[in-house]
Amino acid sequence: MSGAAASFLYLIAACLFIFGLKRLSSPVTARSGNTLSATGMLLAVIVTLLDAGIVDYTVIAAGLLAGGAVGAVLARRVAMTGMPQLVAAFNGFGGIASAMVVASEFLVDAPLERDAGITVAVSTIVGVFTFTGSLVAFGKLQGLLPGRPMVFRGQFALDGILAAAAIGVAAWMVTAGDAAALWVLVGLSALFGVTRTLPVGGADMPVIVAFLNSMSGIAAASTGFVIESVALIISGALVGASGLVLTNIMSKAMNRSLANVLFSGFGGNGEARAAAATAGAVRRATVDDAALTLAYARSVIVVPGYGLAVAQGQFGMRELADRLETRGVKVRYAVHPVAGRMPGHMNVLLAEADVPYEQLLDLDEINDDFPLTDVALVVGANDVVNPVAREDSSSPIYGMPILDVDRARSVIVVKRSLSPGFAGIDNPLFYMDSTMMLFADAKAALDDLAKAVREA
Ligand code: TAP
Repeated sequence: MSGAAASFLYLIAACLFIFGLKRLSSPVTARSGNTLSATGMLLAVIVTLLDAGIVDYTVIAAGLLAGGAVGAVLARRVAMTGMPQLVAAFNGFGGIASAMVVASEFLVDAPLERDAGITVAVSTIVGVFTFTGSLVAFGKLQGLLPGRPMVFRGQFALDGILAAAAIGVAAWMVTAGDAAALWVLVGLSALFGVTRTLPVGGADMPVIVAFLNSMSGIAAASTGFVIESVALIISGALVGASGLVLTNIMSKAMNRSLANVLFSGFGGNGEARAAAATAGAVRRATVDDAALTLAYARSVIVVPGYGLAVAQGQFGMRELADRLETRGVKVRYAVHPVAGRMPGHMNVLLAEADVPYEQLLDLDEINDDFPLTDVALVVGANDVVNPVAREDSSSPIYGMPILDVDRARSVIVVKRSLSPGFAGIDNPLFYMDSTMMLFADAKAALDDLAKAVREA
């Protein structure tokens, strides 16, 4: 294949990445966006295989088969609640793959020119940091490591020493072209990835996963410069930039900065903070009470949260909505940007249950409608509907934008107890006169509600 033809095909692949990414911005076009980007990647891989003067395809074929088989099995088997740790693992492998490619370039061709040497050092630090940081994130999300922030004395001093040492060793590696320096740099970066991720609480892990995703893109882009691969530079830059944008969106939606997420040691396990619930008087409801309220409403806004995902209650929720709609009730869904534990968690969940996209409304679109709504049905959500975020400047979630369900004419909250959510704070919504608490597992409650509404 001629160089010009290869460059042209890489350009097409890059366009497919960009248009694919653009289409991911709406649930309606996301599926086709994914296909477009995947097609772009396939094209880039084929062009590379044909153009790169490969001498022996056997190792590549073996790698494709092994990696493809493991990827296919994992993607088919993973439960929706296990998606964050799968993404964490993928980021880690992306990072280490970039680091291994540049390391082999260095070991074969060292000493490199200064610019290439610096790029190898950057790719090694970022790639290996991403790998070990992602392994820790995976361990926390999978429950293999404690979810609480693991902070220790001298944490910041150790981080500073590791960062300074990495820069010093990188300079040694670039000037001397010494393989020993590369291995020391790998060790320092690996340790840095671990010490930087351990202090982050398990529930903050999704933000870290998005951040590490961005890092894996940066590692890939700098590797692209070393091996002169345009496709790698462009796709790495896109992953790096979009990961940073996503990290920023998530931090903002929690009214926190990335620095606060990385360094404050906020967010342990919900169970550990369950004591935060106060013993105020709540209005308990039975399934029949709640079903009657819903069945005779004119409009209902459903607010899904993390508990719905844990219980896998999305199908029951759809069934309930169908029953209500056949009775003439207007049903819509309010989706908070950080409801659940990963970006787009609720959108994915509702898409699984084939909820029509036009019924999914985000915070800005729906908040003004709550005062005009008969019933807000909150299922397994807590922090994203907590009015203290609006009213109490001493609260840790003060300033976080919330869904104003407390302004609806009546509220039904489905959860198992008065335990707090991720932020570990009590929720005055549960004690309001207009609120009924239906204490139950979300899936069981929604199935029962759908049945009761049919019979009402
Ligand atoms: P949370 O505030 O975490 O509350 C979830 C509630 O679900 C809990 O209070 C729990 O109460 C209930 N629950 C758990 N299992 C349940 C089950 N089987 N059936 C019924 N209810 C169940 O959830 P949220 O409102 O979705 O807010 C998300 C939180 O996570 C926010 O604080 C956000 O900042 C944080 N966060 C989100 C993200 C992203 S990207 N989404 C990333 C990092 C952090 P019971 O135990 O009483 O049932």
